[in-house]
Amino acid sequence: AKIVDIINKAETTHSLTKEEIVDLLRCDEYDQQLFLAADRVRSQYVGDQVHLRGLIEFSNICQQNCFYCGLRKENTKVKRYKLTPDTIIDLADKAKSYNYKTVVLQSGESQSYTVADMQYIIRSIKALGLAITLSLGEKSRDEYQFYKEAGADRYLLRIETTNSRIYKELHPGMSFENRLRCLQDLKDLGYELGTGCLVGLPNQTMECLADDILFFKSLDADMIGLGPFIPNADTPLAQERGGTFNTSIKVMAITRLLLPDANIPATTAMETLDKNGRIIALQSGANVVMPNVTEGEYRKMYMLYPGKICVNDTPKHCVSCITGKIQGIGRHISTEFGFRQSKKLTN
Ligand code: 5AD
Ligand code: SF4
Ligand code: FES
Repeated sequence: AKIVDIINKAETTHSLTKEEIVDLLRCDEYDQQLFLAADRVRSQYVGDQVHLRGLIEFSNICQQNCFYCGLRKENTKVKRYKLTPDTIIDLADKAKSYNYKTVVLQSGESQSYTVADMQYIIRSIKALGLAITLSLGEKSRDEYQFYKEAGADRYLLRIETTNSRIYKELHPGMSFENRLRCLQDLKDLGYELGTGCLVGLPNQTMECLADDILFFKSLDADMIGLGPFIPNADTPLAQERGGTFNTSIKVMAITRLLLPDANIPATTAMETLDKNGRIIALQSGANVVMPNVTEGEYRKMYMLYPGKICVNDTPKHCVSCITGKIQGIGRHISTEFGFRQSKKLTN
């Protein structure tokens, strides 16, 4: 089929075959039409509001060794930190003062906080009237359940890649099956579920990326965060080429066409490759931004990849910076929690 027909089909039916997605990804001639279609679907299904989520990177301690990530356990160049529970709660309170309605509590994967610590943090932040997204990696079903009961609303756990061979190569000591188990447990427990992938991993093909997009759809993910893989010098993938901005935006735009009412962030990694990356993403299907609310020296210490934006900026500066940019393209900062639209209707 012609590329424009595939874009039309995606815009009207929100479904594509793997072959059609691969055709879209391989051909760059109609990218503008693809981005415009994704922007129309975004506008029609989730509107012009942009949801801001305040990101708290509360600890960079990690027991895993993901080949692409600067926080991997074997990277001894990283100075490790963990914020105290009360410091985390205080940052959430500051996020509230910037009118963020959601905080995202993100850390490396570790046991450095007890379940009781996390329950205390979650309950205290809930008492502030904020929605909570957790991003703590792989945990037992019980642990996910305790945090849900304490008040957590959403959970982010990227599948990273659905190609089980690549997954295995890049995640020593981890298993693809356990990651799927985690995603299923989170869904069953009633979390709003976020997943996503890296674009441009070694040996990843357009077919792999098409499978990733179809996976998001079959999981019926509520949120999909994706961005380019950016090689980090202090990791085993230092010499790799990494993903491109354009392919990342295309994967995101196709994801919007197939999951029309999902929440899709314009990610920090996109802005690392293009200085207008988040705005381009917001005009190509995205409807969420996650500004960092971590303070001081800790921002620099959460270096997943080089060139991460905002490392020398304050939370206050970031809120006014991103607000100005969003209003500059005629969009509005949402004053609502920004749960997935269809959830609001069905629950
Ligand atoms: N480049 C881009 N994204 C990365 N992440 C980790 N390392 C990198 C990198 N080098 C992403 C992973 C993880 C998220 C928190 O950060 O996808 O899920
Ligand atoms: Fe740890 Fe997450 Fe980085 Fe993997 S991606 S090394 S689990 S912080
Ligand atoms: Fe942090 Fe612009 S969002 S400086």
